[in-house]
Amino acid sequence: MVVQNPHHEIRTDVREHRSPKYDIAPLFVNRWSPRSMTGDPVDEAEFMPLFEAARWAPSSYNNQPWRFLYATRDSDHWEDYFNLLSEENRRWAKRAGVLVVIVSKTTFDYNGDPSQTHSFDTGAAWENMALEGARRGLVVHGIGGFDYEQAAVVLSLPADYAIEAMAAIGVRGSPETLPPEMQAREAPSDRKPLTDIVIDGAFDGCDNGGEETR
Ligand SMILES: Cc1cc2nc3c(=O)[nH]c(=O)nc-3n(C[C@H](O)[C@H](O)[C@H](O)COP(=O)(O)O)c2cc1C
Repeated sequence: MVVQNPHHEIRTDVREHRSPKYDIAPLFVNRWSPRSMTGDPVDEAEFMPLFEAARWAPSSYNNQPWRFLYATRDSDHWEDYFNLLSEENRRWAKRAGVLVVIVSKTTFDYNGDPSQTHSFDTGAAWENMALEGARRGLVVHGIGGFDYEQAAVVLSLPADYAIEAMAAIGVRGSPETLPPEMQAREAPSDRKPLTDIVIDGAFDGCDNGGEETR
């Protein structure tokens, strides 16, 4: 697949919505989560590099707890995966080429003890995947709106694994394919300012928007 944008700079369509306050790699800003997709299949050669990128994420004890289970739209598993999604998510994800369930192993391989950071580690892998997808011009859209319990059944989830999230991968399509209210939201979102999310020292004594301390 042709890399549509080498991401040497922030894309013009993104720049109207996002302006980072410091100089960072443009790919971080260019990644966003479109919902409009064509419904075309995505070949293994196109989506496997996303999992390759995920593989290089850091993790506690290099345990690499992430697991990616997938169904392509032409596979026998597609319907099972698709039926996990909430009604709202089905409305746009029906045009994905691949649906992914992101799972993490909750214990360390080397001693079987529970890992505090399995979700954190798998989140890092997910972001690698999303960034590589953005670099390749693919839609990669995270999904939390699905039936987690049913996912465990459909995937025959072993006891020491946790379902983290789903994701849709697809070929970018025209916003007109979306229901009107989704078309209106089909743009890169902004972010909280750094002053809301970065704290010098402890929570007490900082103005963090009035959040309660524990
Ligand atoms: C774990 C996770 C779950 C999400 N769940 C949904 C979802 O169920 N439906 C949806 O349309 N978008 C979902 N999103 C997309 C977020 O709404 C989106 O990432 C967020 O608004 C930031 O926008 P951006 O990704 O375009 O920068 C999810 C994203 C993540 C990372």
